[in-house]
Amino acid sequence: MDNCLEFLKSRRSIRRFRRDSPPLDLILKAIDVARYAPSARNSQPWRFIVVNDPSLKNKLAEIHPWARPLKEAPIGVVVACHIDESPTSYMLDCANATIYLLLALHALGLGAVWIQALRNVEELRELLGIPNNAIPVAVIAIGYPDEKPEPRPRRPIGEVVFLNKYGSKFIVMKTS
Ligand SMILES: Cc1cc2nc3c(=O)[nH]c(=O)nc-3n(C[C@H](O)[C@H](O)[C@H](O)COP(=O)(O)O)c2cc1C
Repeated sequence: MDNCLEFLKSRRSIRRFRRDSPPLDLILKAIDVARYAPSARNSQPWRFIVVNDPSLKNKLAEIHPWARPLKEAPIGVVVACHIDESPTSYMLDCANATIYLLLALHALGLGAVWIQALRNVEELRELLGIPNNAIPVAVIAIGYPDEKPEPRPRRPIGEVVFLNKYGSKFIVMKTS
């Protein structure tokens, strides 16, 4: 169990990738796991668009300056979400699927980073043929990692955990 907790803590956003592409069946293996994320009423409003066409992927890399990791990454996966299938919670459902996908990729030894999609919804719809009743919530840049970043700082646990009431201190816990 401790190994599992350490594994969860060891995921990092990877933005530098080797040039060789992971096989598509490995990507499918990770997406298979993402389908097991929880969703409201088990609605599973997610769809996954795997992008390995270099010119299309490069267009995704240009949607905003922080999308650049997609240029180097051999594969992108766009998580699109059907609003009509989960009208209240579609964004949460698809965020759950996205984090499951990131963790599954990590378990398979692949590197990945979540690229913001929500400011470029129309552009992404047009590039990928996503219908109007679906919204692209995330683009994931994926490849074999070519960097080992240090963990990003986390807020101290005492700052984010309360007991019974917002603002009331929890016992101080020792964490790494
Ligand atoms: C909703 C969301 C949007 C993000 N957008 C970007 C992005 O556009 N480009 C990028 O390089 N990283 C992006 N990230 C990755 C975050 O910068 C990263 O998760 C955060 O700095 C913590 O680092 P870690 O993932 O290595 O723990 C995004 C993450 C989330 C959850």
